[in-house]
Amino acid sequence: MPAPNMELIVSLAKRRGFVFPSSEIYGGMGGFWDYGPLGVELKNNVKAAWWRQMVQLRDDIVGLDAAIIMNPRVWEVSGHVAGFSDPMVDCRNCKFRFRADDLKGPPSEIACPNCGNRGTLTEPRQFHLMFQTRVGPLEESASVAYLRPETAQGIFVNFANVATTARKRLPFGIAQIGKSFRNEITPGNFIFRDREFEQMEVEFFVHPAQEDQWFAYWVEERLRWWTDVMGIGAERLRLRPHDPDELSHYSRQTTDIEYAFPMGWSELEGVADRTDFDLKAHAEASGKSLSVFDEASGEHVTPYVIEPAMGVDRALLTVLLDAYEEQQVEGEKRVVLHLRPSLAPIKVAVMPLLRNRPELVELGQRLASDLRLRLPATYDDTASIGKLYRRQDEIGTPFCVTVDVETLADGAATIRERDSMTQQRVAISALPDRIASLVSGAPWEGGQPERSPAGE
Ligand code: GAP
Repeated sequence: MPAPNMELIVSLAKRRGFVFPSSEIYGGMGGFWDYGPLGVELKNNVKAAWWRQMVQLRDDIVGLDAAIIMNPRVWEVSGHVAGFSDPMVDCRNCKFRFRADDLKGPPSEIACPNCGNRGTLTEPRQFHLMFQTRVGPLEESASVAYLRPETAQGIFVNFANVATTARKRLPFGIAQIGKSFRNEITPGNFIFRDREFEQMEVEFFVHPAQEDQWFAYWVEERLRWWTDVMGIGAERLRLRPHDPDELSHYSRQTTDIEYAFPMGWSELEGVADRTDFDLKAHAEASGKSLSVFDEASGEHVTPYVIEPAMGVDRALLTVLLDAYEEQQVEGEKRVVLHLRPSLAPIKVAVMPLLRNRPELVELGQRLASDLRLRLPATYDDTASIGKLYRRQDEIGTPFCVTVDVETLADGAATIRERDSMTQQRVAISALPDRIASLVSGAPWEGGQPERSPAGE
């Protein structure tokens, strides 16, 4: 299935409350987005899936939540103050701005991609990507600080704190989820490239002799996470090692996990081999020891670092794109998000077949309250059952439960599964357990073709 075009996803995200342009009532702000009621749930589920896999299911990675604003020395020593910039080109005619590396040829020869004029593009200039702010009441250069452009440095400067308090030996990792900020020249493609975004990064510390082996491990492990945990189609993922001239200033080797986005193959996550670049630089500049005793080799070493780093917003975009499908069902369009139940913002929606029967409404509401104690559940009776199913399909709700007139007599309700649109009748007393086990991955078996539940 080819990726849907971006406009369909932008429109669905806006219409159903996943993502809104930031400060929209004032015309928005390029590169900034707000997550609505469903978006915040989906985002939390993506983060929880990553944290579970990278921290909670492993004995060799621990978590951290460092401050966004750090001592500006961090960014001088990390090389970001000197080198974290992109080459930028302006059009003297239409005033549009481009990343030089996005242009298909030298500025002196090509036409402006916006206005089409020739000879109007400036030579590339380096444009610094870090946002500056001031800390404290003084308006002077001493108070200048930066919004972090990556979460990684918070991990490096806490390396000794964490290694000592968590009593970890090599190899071990530190994981962090948090906001990062970059004054991107050309934010765009919806939430693909933002100026404020969230990252999920692990810095995995290894003996220098094991650098290549752990690099290969993390590339494979992260690719497997995208397919097996997030359910992303393997045919829309690929690995792309960086050419030497595109490596970041700290990297010896990097492999991107790319996704077939509507605008073409683009980076979803990067696995970088940062060697001892950061720890060594911080040790030298701070005068603090950032080496450890490695019991296996009997040596004191400054560890090498393998870093799987990804963006939450980009992950959320990928999940939406990959899950989106338009189908024809009985001559009508059905939009469905095939989200894994673990990622779906709402796991189950309860609806009465007849909303003019107070006893069914009351039963449905009570059932939704019971289910809510176990998992995110909703109740809806604001449309016909067919419309309610479609509404839930479009936001990826894996299960709907309908109560009907027969329910009043036999105490059973109908569960309807989103992807197959098949149904099962289940005793209400068994429903919370049944839904909970389905959401945690139990197979859906024995569903009957969709029919109008009794009484329609
Ligand atoms: N610490 C290493 C690092 O930050 P990066 O390749 O610049 O490396 C890692 O970023 C990931 O963060 C990317 O693969 C992408 O998913 C996400 N990311 C980077 N810049 C972004 C932006 N402007 N908007 C959204 N996500 C971004």
